[in-house]
Amino acid sequence: MFIESFKVESPNVKYTDDEIHSVYNYETTELVHENKNGSYQWVVKPKSVQYEFKTDTHVPKLGVMLVGWGGNNGSTLTAGVIANREGISWATKDKVQQANYFGSLTQASTIRVGSFNGEEIYAPFKSLLPMVNPDDVVFGGWDISDLNLADSMTRAKVLDIDLQKQLRPYMESMVPLPGIYDPDFIAANQGSRANHVIKGTKKEQMQQVIKDIREFKEANKVDKVVVLWTANTERYSNVIVGLNDTVESLLASLDKNESEISPSTLYALACIYEDVPFINGSPQNTFVPGVIDLAIKRNVLIGGDDFKSGQTKMKSVLVDFLVGAGIKPTSIVSYNHLGNNDGMNLSAPQTFRSKEISKSNVVDDMVSSNGILYEPGEHPDHVIVIKYVPYVGDSKRAMDEYTSEIFMGGKSTIVMHNTCEDSLLAAPIILDLVLLAELSTRIQLKAVGEGKFHSFHPVATILSYLTKAPLVSTHYFFQNLYANWYRKEAGDDEVYTQH
Ligand code: NAI
Repeated sequence: MFIESFKVESPNVKYTDDEIHSVYNYETTELVHENKNGSYQWVVKPKSVQYEFKTDTHVPKLGVMLVGWGGNNGSTLTAGVIANREGISWATKDKVQQANYFGSLTQASTIRVGSFNGEEIYAPFKSLLPMVNPDDVVFGGWDISDLNLADSMTRAKVLDIDLQKQLRPYMESMVPLPGIYDPDFIAANQGSRANHVIKGTKKEQMQQVIKDIREFKEANKVDKVVVLWTANTERYSNVIVGLNDTVESLLASLDKNESEISPSTLYALACIYEDVPFINGSPQNTFVPGVIDLAIKRNVLIGGDDFKSGQTKMKSVLVDFLVGAGIKPTSIVSYNHLGNNDGMNLSAPQTFRSKEISKSNVVDDMVSSNGILYEPGEHPDHVIVIKYVPYVGDSKRAMDEYTSEIFMGGKSTIVMHNTCEDSLLAAPIILDLVLLAELSTRIQLKAVGEGKFHSFHPVATILSYLTKAPLVSTHYFFQNLYANWYRKEAGDDEVYTQH
């Protein structure tokens, strides 16, 4: 059974006019490696940690600024939210379709809250805590192409034509701000699109983005802004000692106008200075160590990397299921072809490499979780191929073959074909990321023994559920190491067959 909303009555939860206070006992374990009578053994000690949470219940007026606003994802999300807000329906060859938020965790999923007369009761995810209603979000952002959002929607070829006609009047006046363009970081084939760019040095470009955020906030009278990168995938930045490995080196490099600072890093820096959460929806390493350190120092939320929308979502679920069932995946081969602008950009080796790294990471945790199936250091063969096929447009095809070892040397092969409808899968995930990022900034917590409430760690692990290559506070250093190692291992011309 489904209920719309509920209130909690518990000694652990208090509602005030401004806040929800709650006490949560986290039952966990502590592991110790102990020397007992001369031999070491692992000892598991259950422990309970009490956390106090307080959530500000005042839902702000939220502005969302997208980097790459005029792209397929940016225009599809903006169109979808307007269609929902205006209650638009349109004729397709099958039926009259109503606008909806299917595919959004916050807007279209439910949570089990208990049972009533033996029946399980579910409530909307969005009823758990006060969250921004997506219909109320004000959109804005940057693009290196000057098309207005109505024309961008047409260029994207994602939404039905009858819907586009109805949306056009709402979107014609929406024009992205000029973006930071550096042809060294995205594919050369994007050059003809770049007619709307911020001039100046790297530092001046960053300062322009700061100015843009302030002006957007003022003009739209929004209380808070979240910025999300849904622009083209960039190549990886080289992480170099003295260049971007610390806040100091990165800021010194900015002053020197160092060429290795990517546009996405400049947007991220601008946001950190403006106390604005920044989420990276693409695979590149925007968050070089200097950026992460600055976000931690200034306590500004950052999250990423790379939306987990189609093939990789299936892969996470399937590999988790197989390894969890005691089955040993030994070969995972993924072919993709897509024909949108993202696909064209990924057809260049450097940007493809960023995507390949992020898509490869996804099985690592599962493999390392099972030492019965895998020897230390052993890995399934994992190959990812991406090809640009213009005809299929935004309707990305993903074909995966999973071969696993089963009982007594047997083999099992699963083959999957997935038509991804790329932007229609990504848009609701973008929405979740910005809504959850905003919510995260209203939550404070403390563990028993901690004097003061504090916010979540600025590296927003909670958002990582929605991304392929989760940015995690303890891992980032190793991720960069891994990426550097990987790039070296692969060699520049071997991009389509790397394990
Ligand atoms: P798109 O190519 O249609 O849109 C990207 C937009 O960014 C373009 O309008 C381009 O002009 C603009 N742009 C490029 N560099 C810019 C810069 N420095 N500043 C401002 N604007 C800039 O791509 P799409 O399909 O919207 O995807 C966007 C990103 O999301 C890609 O990196 C893609 O890999 C990533 N992504 C998409 C998924 C999906 O669609 N299912 C899943 C995972 C990640």
